[in-house]
Amino acid sequence: MTEKGTFYISTPIYYPSGKLHIGHSYTTVAADCMARFKRMMGYDVMFLTGTDEHGQKIERRAKDDGKEPQEFVDEIVDWIKDLWGVLDIEYDDFIRTTQERHKKIVQKIFQKFYEQGDVYKDKYEGWYCTPCESFWLERQLETGNVCPDCSRPVEWVKEESYFFKMSKYADRLLEHIEKNPDFIQPPERKNEMVNNFLKPGLQDLCVSRTTFKWGIPVPMDPDHVIYVWLDALTNYITALGYLSEDDSRFEKYWPCNVHLVGKEIVRFHTIYWPIFLMAFGLPLPKQVFGHGWLLLEDGKISKSKGNVIDPKVLSEKYGSDAVRFYLLREIPFGSDGVFTPESLIERMNYDLANDLGNLLNRTVAMVDKYFDGEIPEPDKSAEEVDEDLRSLAIKTPEEMVGYMNDLKFSDALEHLWKLIRRTNKYIDETRPWILGKECKDDENKKNRLGTVLYNLSESLRIISIMLWPFMPKTPGEIWEQLGIEDENILKFDSVKEWGHLKPGQKVKKDKPLFPRLEIEEELEKLSEKEDQSEKTNKDAKTEGPSHADYALKDETVKIDDFAKLDIRVAEIINAEPVKGADKLLKLEVDLGFEKRQVVAGIAKKYSPQDIVGKKTLMIVNLKPTKIKGVKSEGMILAASDIKGDKDEVVLTSLDDVDITKGSKVE
Ligand code: MSP
Repeated sequence: MTEKGTFYISTPIYYPSGKLHIGHSYTTVAADCMARFKRMMGYDVMFLTGTDEHGQKIERRAKDDGKEPQEFVDEIVDWIKDLWGVLDIEYDDFIRTTQERHKKIVQKIFQKFYEQGDVYKDKYEGWYCTPCESFWLERQLETGNVCPDCSRPVEWVKEESYFFKMSKYADRLLEHIEKNPDFIQPPERKNEMVNNFLKPGLQDLCVSRTTFKWGIPVPMDPDHVIYVWLDALTNYITALGYLSEDDSRFEKYWPCNVHLVGKEIVRFHTIYWPIFLMAFGLPLPKQVFGHGWLLLEDGKISKSKGNVIDPKVLSEKYGSDAVRFYLLREIPFGSDGVFTPESLIERMNYDLANDLGNLLNRTVAMVDKYFDGEIPEPDKSAEEVDEDLRSLAIKTPEEMVGYMNDLKFSDALEHLWKLIRRTNKYIDETRPWILGKECKDDENKKNRLGTVLYNLSESLRIISIMLWPFMPKTPGEIWEQLGIEDENILKFDSVKEWGHLKPGQKVKKDKPLFPRLEIEEELEKLSEKEDQSEKTNKDAKTEGPSHADYALKDETVKIDDFAKLDIRVAEIINAEPVKGADKLLKLEVDLGFEKRQVVAGIAKKYSPQDIVGKKTLMIVNLKPTKIKGVKSEGMILAASDIKGDKDEVVLTSLDDVDITKGSKVE
């Protein structure tokens, strides 16, 4: 163990039911950043992630794909591990619930619960949400018998099951939560757990299933498989070797410092999990942090909605450091936030290219020009601006540690950027380009210029070290350009003092750290990527409608949701192609009360002259957007034929009926 002690952090173990999206990457990037930060500070870190591979949902997905469940998950797990590689996730262990080391311990745990009387056999009859793998009481469901978490229909299940005596531990748990205000974070999640779940009273939990096979068999009754959440939650200790021949990691790292989870699974981690641990007499995790959701402009990111943002595509285009930076900087960790490609590109342009990239570029270029590429020796005397820069540079790491201890990634980065901006301002204040002109015949000015350039380089050294947990690749590029070879001056301890950078090092001017991007162009390219992946999917299909084409969305919407859409009769009064987009037409439509511009993907089927004068239906209250750089203020309703070329969409038509423009669909 190091002087600092241990630090154990975990992510949820993800379902390998499909590829992961930017939302899953959010939790894992945050956990990796925290793990790196603590390692840098000298902690002995255990960072665990993995996959939750059993359950009815996976069994069904594998069947739909015509594969055995194990074969199905193996492929996705390979993809997930590759994703973590792309995003520079340095986990210490990756647990899979199908591994022997996990399965045999889960069985031991179940057996022990049974033997000590915490688990008993009875009959279960009630509602079950398969996508969430969770049981619900009638009163907890939303209208139309849908799951309160994911709004999908629940199923009535009736089976003989094993139950866990949750109620036996409820009071102790409540007391623990009240006595340990840090246990559930942020605080609003604590109130939700206490008021909505614990205070109304806990039901005993059904911890086995018989209606499917893909799970860990109950040891004394193998027709039953262990409930997937009991199986999954224990990963946090089975990975450490709990109850195995070698439990040294368990002894060293348990209890966990923080389980990072999305807010929708805080319930499982702060009620079921601590109760299972209490039943074992084990200490509870120090903290469960339920972070907010990353949303898209039109709602939740979800595989079923298909509007998934692929973290591999984004990393390939912009670099994993930029994606990591964006995720950690843009949204305060406890809150929900909207992901848009525009905001990603803006952050890259302003924070990365302008602020950080320019600072390095200007510094290295001036050292090159005025000192033959050698970091100059600083003068002993210091002016007020120098002191000001130095004191901020020394204070910033300390402040960042404070924010990181509270998992405030965004605040920590904001403070680092204050230092970056302060350093840029130092250039404006000290005006080295003027000193450069004057120093030819003035030794004092030459000394002053040397001090200024040294200070800029030293500030960059400190910035780059503090940047590393967030963006692991960029610091190396900064060190290359500053010519730093001595690893000792890159240790966290070295940021506490000013002046570790060695004069005389040779800088190496290179290309800018980050390119400046044109938003419109990038959005266009990103949508091309989407088109590409759509195309690949389509190409892979056999002729004629497939099973998937006929499949209804597995999500029902309430009438109130539908009523939010304002759909009107619109007359197309003008149409023209969109440059560089062979599927799109730019339309001008008349709604009776106003005219609008809208972009529609109908150009494969219709030429502009075919459709001018047609009446169709349009959603008029969609948030205006730009498609291929062209403003679009609504959406024309059209159907893509499941039989033919899916790009040949057919417009809804109200031409044969007598109806006034602007009429509403209700
Ligand atoms: N298998 C369970 C977890 C078991 S842990 C013992 C599970 N898996 S999951 O694949 O559905 O992953 C859910 C987690 O992924 C969330 O709790 C969150 O950490 C992350 N996210 C998934 N979508 C997300 C967003 N849109 N935004 C932020 N995080 C998201 O639940």
